Amino acid sequence: MTQHPELEGRVAIVAGGGSAGMGRASARALAEAGAYLAVLDIDARKGRETVDRLVASGHRADFYQTDMTDPAAVEATMAAIATRRGRIDILFNNTGVPTEKGKRLTDFSPEEWARSLDLNLNTAFHGLRFALPHIIAGGRGGSIINNASASGLRANPTGAPYSTAKAGVIHLTKVAALEVARYGIRVNAICPYSVSRRDFDPPAADARPPIPDLSPDTDFGPWQRAQLPMMRSAKGYEIAAVVRFLASDAASWITGAAIPVDGGSTAGYFGEVRASMTG
Ligand SMILES: NC(=O)c1ccc[n+]([C@@H]2O[C@H](COP(=O)([O-])OP(=O)(O)OC[C@H]3O[C@@H](n4cnc5c(N)ncnc54)[C@H](O)[C@@H]3O)[C@@H](O)[C@H]2O)c1
Repeated sequence: MTQHPELEGRVAIVAGGGSAGMGRASARALAEAGAYLAVLDIDARKGRETVDRLVASGHRADFYQTDMTDPAAVEATMAAIATRRGRIDILFNNTGVPTEKGKRLTDFSPEEWARSLDLNLNTAFHGLRFALPHIIAGGRGGSIINNASASGLRANPTGAPYSTAKAGVIHLTKVAALEVARYGIRVNAICPYSVSRRDFDPPAADARPPIPDLSPDTDFGPWQRAQLPMMRSAKGYEIAAVVRFLASDAASWITGAAIPVDGGSTAGYFGEVRASMTG
């Protein structure tokens, strides 16, 4: 008997799919699982590159330039995808832009605050708001994954708007999960920490992750590395594997969850262990 990939025949959307890190890796993982991919991004060059790579690997994908902060644009894109493909099954809301690091609450202007909530919380709302009617109308259930952050699980001083927005994404996820569970639609959040924004090919199936990897292949500085029990940053495909699982029927009993995918960073206070290892 031929085994079909688990997402064959499904229509998946990755918003913020131009991102060379988690966005591109997740688009690749969902396509490898058999899904058709609609890649959304405000940046046409990056979004098209994701699609070109998918198509070059034999997958089916299209790019839709979309500003996820603009509700009318998101509504039009979701309608265009549903019309063209006949259905929407999966949405990965990956859009987000961290606020400037090192600024205290009293240093943020009201405009910076509003812009960060627009980019990091409202984008997730717009994705849910305008994809859900199509997923519900399809009558086959579905899966939505919101990219929150470890900063939404534990407060991140000197990043007030981003941390607050990502906490909001987690709560939005839970509200949505409760509202649409009866349609067989699952809504979950992932909470990553310290993920590279570079493009990496997934390793060979039998390869093991390095323990620890102290190579300088990270976009992050010493402060972030001091928060990392595994003493390395993640690569996009390590998050994409969780997105692929949550998108699939293998995760059929998981909804309303906020899952840390953070190398243990939110498991507890790590400073003393770190000091004893390096001191
Ligand atoms: N990198 C990390 O360590 C980390 C950790 C936790 C959470 N996150 C979250 O992961 C997601 C991806 O972040 P990343 O770090 O890979 O950054 P990234 O910059 O590579 O990805 C963000 C993508 O969103 C796109 N984008 C920005 N504004 C947009 C808009 N208005 N409309 C549509 N697309 C827009 C960008 O062009 C980019 O492709 C974000 O939600 C971020 O908050 C990242």
